[in-house]
Amino acid sequence: MTKNRQWVLKNRPFGDLKDGDLELVETAVPEPADGEVLIRTVYLSLDPTNRTWMNDSEGYLPPVQLGSVMRGLSLGVVEASKSDRFAIGDIVTTSAGGWADYAAIPAAAAGKVHRFPGLPLTANMSVLGMTGLTAYFGVTDVLQPQPGETMVISAAAGAVGSIAGQVAKQKGARVIGIAGGPAKCAWLTDELGFDAAIDYKNERVGEALDRLAPDGVEMSFENVGGEIMNATWNRTKIHGRIAVCGMISAYNATSAPKPPNLARLITHRLKVQGFLVLDYQSRAREMVAEMGPWLANGRVKWKVHVDEGLEDAVASLGRLFTGAHDGKLLVRVSEEP
Ligand SMILES: NC(=O)c1ccc[n+]([C@@H]2O[C@H](COP(=O)([O-])OP(=O)(O)OC[C@H]3O[C@@H](n4cnc5c(N)ncnc54)[C@H](OP(=O)(O)O)[C@@H]3O)[C@@H](O)[C@H]2O)c1
Repeated sequence: MTKNRQWVLKNRPFGDLKDGDLELVETAVPEPADGEVLIRTVYLSLDPTNRTWMNDSEGYLPPVQLGSVMRGLSLGVVEASKSDRFAIGDIVTTSAGGWADYAAIPAAAAGKVHRFPGLPLTANMSVLGMTGLTAYFGVTDVLQPQPGETMVISAAAGAVGSIAGQVAKQKGARVIGIAGGPAKCAWLTDELGFDAAIDYKNERVGEALDRLAPDGVEMSFENVGGEIMNATWNRTKIHGRIAVCGMISAYNATSAPKPPNLARLITHRLKVQGFLVLDYQSRAREMVAEMGPWLANGRVKWKVHVDEGLEDAVASLGRLFTGAHDGKLLVRVSEEP
């Protein structure tokens, strides 16, 4: 291929993404400079946080600049190398390539993919990648469940939530998932072994929690924020722990959501901790060592939802905000090697 397509950020979106906020432009395939490698993107990871990077606000990474290629985590193949670190054909992941067919990136910005025997390459972009790392350490390091404790998790049928709930189950916790729709809720209880699921699109979360955990809950793994967060927050027990992983309900919002009742921090001596997967990257081996056998023996299950084609990446991203995906959302940009 001689052409390269890149999604470029044209406008700072207000609310939901609109046509024209990102534009697909064609350029030549870049030549790697000394110390760089040319990557052909195979899978692009679409993540709720992509939307937050489009805002001109203080985040954990700088905003994507207008006129720049949209940032994103990708897995690709080295097609040309001017670095001793990588050879042609190596499979790598990087955040430096972005939403593009090809990117010439510094070799230091790429990491070699170590495939887990018997698992498809998509595992490296989901359960054994950033998603798995978030879920695993959010549970084992931030919440530290004790056997018999109850954990509530929102966006429970999603990429992070479905894994986090299963990790908590492996640690002996009772897990209540909150998800949208009967099919997702049935998957949680019937296939993943969650103890209960609340369909927030068809029932009141607070009432359901009162029924399922009348004495309250010890832990909350928060992925959604807003009213769903407040319903769980208000049912935490004394010394309850809340891991704030994400607040997807606010990412497209044009006004701030209603905050939780902060007085409960004092009355119930709560521990609330936000966390970022970036802080756990150096501990990936720990996660693979424990999760690998769970995956191999089927104790932890995972799904990916693969959309075809870079040209539809913006529409695909929208799935994260409507729930119209089933598992970790990826775009297949080109064929696996
Ligand atoms: N802290 C970190 O380092 C880190 C890393 C990765 C992800 N995260 C966060 O983890 C959360 C989940 O991310 P993910 O990648 O695993 O995505 P995901 O859960 O696979 O997809 C997002 C899901 O969120 C639910 N959702 C969307 N808008 C909602 C709303 N307004 N109210 C209720 N539910 C809503 C939908 O599930 P339903 O179909 O059930 O509605 C959707 O499927 C996000 O908040 C993300 O920002 C944090």
